[in-house]
Amino acid sequence: MNRAAITAVGAYLPDYVLNNEEMETLVETTNEWIVTRSGITERRILKDKTKASAFMAAEAAKNVLEKRGITADSIDLIIVATVTPDHQYPATANVVADMIGAKNAWGFDLQAACSSFIYALQTGSKFIESGTHKRVLVIGSDKMSSIVDYTDRKTSILFGDAAGAVLLEPSADENGIIDARMYVDGSGKKYLYQPAGGSLNPASYDTVLNKQHFVYMDGQAVFKIAVTKMADVAEEMMVRNNLSADDVAFLVPHQANKRIIEAAAERMGIGMEKVMLNIHKYGNTTSATLPLCLYEWEHELKKGDNIILTTFGAGFTWGGMYIKWAY
Ligand code: UT7
Repeated sequence: MNRAAITAVGAYLPDYVLNNEEMETLVETTNEWIVTRSGITERRILKDKTKASAFMAAEAAKNVLEKRGITADSIDLIIVATVTPDHQYPATANVVADMIGAKNAWGFDLQAACSSFIYALQTGSKFIESGTHKRVLVIGSDKMSSIVDYTDRKTSILFGDAAGAVLLEPSADENGIIDARMYVDGSGKKYLYQPAGGSLNPASYDTVLNKQHFVYMDGQAVFKIAVTKMADVAEEMMVRNNLSADDVAFLVPHQANKRIIEAAAERMGIGMEKVMLNIHKYGNTTSATLPLCLYEWEHELKKGDNIILTTFGAGFTWGGMYIKWAY
């Protein structure tokens, strides 16, 4: 088997910073409430209405290509993880392939809410492992500001826009993606979803009037399950691979709530100094949180480091992955 390894990481962050002080002018909230309950201080917003998830994904992908020193025509496959595709169809991956000039690639979008990126990484790794593909771009990109209701204080404070991308290639040694476990429980649908815009509730005057194209979330219900499942799957990766807390160099958690992340770290028995945490700067960027963490901590990662990715999202979806860092 050809093990799949991440060989480059890139990102795109919009310039505009929407901080908690500005949030206080939009909804009835306080900086203190937001920081205490979620850990978020500010988030990035893509203000340009002519640009969306594909643009951010393409910028993150170009960053990866530049860092790896390769051209877009050497890419075999592009998987875009997103809940905010530019269009229902064609897939964002198609648009990205055109934007970056990936003439020899095929591609598709993958949607598993906040678990989209880890699902996409697991999927992409299989194309490398099978030996049929040599270079797979896995991109997480979400323009959450396009589906957030900035009059709803329960959700608007949480989300931000961003993209992150990784390149998967066959590993040159024993490093790479070692193990992964993904889960889905559709009974959680009612707690976190976008009520309209799909085939069940197509867009209509009423769906727009009733704000059904925005994120709906029962935060407490999601929190209770997320706090358990994200820790469960992180622990499962350690147990299955005989890893002690000392063996783990970094935990790479989905950034939905600082308290959920702290609970996962506690269960794993690792200190917060080993946790990639940037929720204060970007909020929850959905599909972009994990690659954004890898991007920001890339300079601290060493070849052979054991890292554990863990995530939880709407659906419910969740998953964990054990990676030995390859460079
Ligand atoms: O990424 C996908 C997965 N998503 C998650 O994992 C998110 C999970 N949920 C959460 O992170 C948390 O539930 C939130 C951060 C969304 C909310 O924190 P909470 O501690 O669960 O607060 P709550 O929803 O129980 O609300 C507590 C109170 C309520 O007031 P009452 O009913 O006690 O009077 C809310 O109305 O806080 C109120 N509240 C706010 N107050 C000020 C809700 N939003 C705000 C706000 N500012 N922005």
